[in-house]
Amino acid sequence: NAVTDAAGAAPAFPIPAGVFAETVTDVQHYTDTLFRFRMTRPAGFRFRSGEFVMIGLPNADKPVYRAYSIASPSWDEELEFFSIKVPNGPLTEHLQKIKVGDTVLMRKKSTGTLVHDALLPGKRLYLFSTGTGIAPFASIIRDPETYDKFETVILTQTCRTTAELAYGKELVAAIRADELMSEFVGDKLHLHATATRDGETRGERITTLIESGRLFEDLGLPPLDPDTDRAMICGSMEMLKDTAALMEKFGLVEGSNAQPATYVVERAFVG
Ligand code: A2P
Repeated sequence: NAVTDAAGAAPAFPIPAGVFAETVTDVQHYTDTLFRFRMTRPAGFRFRSGEFVMIGLPNADKPVYRAYSIASPSWDEELEFFSIKVPNGPLTEHLQKIKVGDTVLMRKKSTGTLVHDALLPGKRLYLFSTGTGIAPFASIIRDPETYDKFETVILTQTCRTTAELAYGKELVAAIRADELMSEFVGDKLHLHATATRDGETRGERITTLIESGRLFEDLGLPPLDPDTDRAMICGSMEMLKDTAALMEKFGLVEGSNAQPATYVVERAFVG
């Protein structure tokens, strides 16, 4: 099952059986620690916006796989991922060096709880993220279903520095500039991006902003209400715990694919 490179000469690393082997089509680096890449999408591969897959790289030994949220929407003909670069990380150490034309491995099944199926119908959808936790929401906010189901969609991203907010800001700007997407998104999408450690412009953690009510004041929206508001949360373990506790305080209930409710959580993967 060994493959050869494009020239058909030197043998490359073998492609394991039962996984997709896709080709990188675009790579963009944002900071020393963040980058995005796009790759071909296997024919017949279906997923729900917000789900994750297992990604790896072909190598001489057994490939290391890590969970990655698919950042592209389900209608996109390519797949997009947003990743951190972990120093000496078993996968990201190599993944951060990928170039257009390289091969990325992907296991065949996608899964996850940050999906519309796990939420009851509502009026407003809050997408709370920190760092690369924005990735599944990059998929959700480009999905027409999101705007069929909700009147208002609020994406929040909190990072340590302003530079780390670039992916989310560019993404929302691109949606607004896109003829097709801007048609179904309209003026329903709001981005609330803040950096917590950037000197003069320093902002608060999202949990602080929810607790003090500042977030809702800034947005011109009423406080969270379980009758109308739904939330998806993606960030570090601590962020999930703290944000979920706040959701519960407002009367929201955690949902799942088996039992849809009013908020859902998923850990931001890879670090
Ligand atoms: P802070 O700068 O106050 O720690 P990290 O890289 O540690 O995951 O942090 C990413 C962003 O998430 C930072 O802005 C950080 O704020 C914020 N953050 C970290 N932990 C929490 C938490 N438990 N609840 C809310 N925000 C958090």
